[in-house]
Amino acid sequence: MSVPAPLRLAILISGRGSNMLAIARACTTGSIAASVSLVIADRADAGGVTSAAQLGIPTAVVQRSTARDAAAFEAALIATLEAQRPDVIALAGFMRILSAGFVNRFLGRMFNIHPSLLPAYRGLHTHRRVLAAREPQHGASVHFVTPELDGGPVVLQSRVAVAPLDTEATLSARVQATEHIIYPQVLAWFAQRRLAWRDGAAWLDGTRLATPVVEDFNAPA
Ligand code: GAR
Repeated sequence: MSVPAPLRLAILISGRGSNMLAIARACTTGSIAASVSLVIADRADAGGVTSAAQLGIPTAVVQRSTARDAAAFEAALIATLEAQRPDVIALAGFMRILSAGFVNRFLGRMFNIHPSLLPAYRGLHTHRRVLAAREPQHGASVHFVTPELDGGPVVLQSRVAVAPLDTEATLSARVQATEHIIYPQVLAWFAQRRLAWRDGAAWLDGTRLATPVVEDFNAPA
């Protein structure tokens, strides 16, 4: 069987970039058959830009300075991305809502990670809202990006138990540790051509995913 060519991966971040680093590490070790060709941040002070540069990954900052320049921001983002000809794009803590035009341009090859068990808790402050609702379980979801915010087909979810003494900080740290496992896993499947987008759905190993694959992190090690 022939080995698929490594993919060119672009990662979009807004902050610390811990998911970006987990993905970059998995590319370096060969767990993901891809190379990170570019990290783009929408903020000059995003810590992940420095971390990526230290790894020798090309970086770019594309800022959106005013509320009115959404179209100009996306045009700049597209130009920066397309100059690198990415095969796949990972939104990793990229805190901007992208237009349908932008999303459709990369439909089927753009992923996002969201800190909740989607479709529950779309949007912001998920850990706080999960604690307030006294949910027994929480987690993170990796999904194909579609124009519906946090609404694209979910490929893989991590599930953790919410502990009685959890705070927003402890819960988010525990969920984030699982993000660093499931996001590289999904990108590895995509790079191996095991995961594909077809007819508006996610397909894994030739089977349409009616529900996401769930990885349970509750079980004792
Ligand atoms: C991640 O925990 C990710 O789930 C979340 O931002 C964090 C970024 O952390 N994403 C969202 O909330 C998207 N709605 P990182 O910069 O350390 O990867």
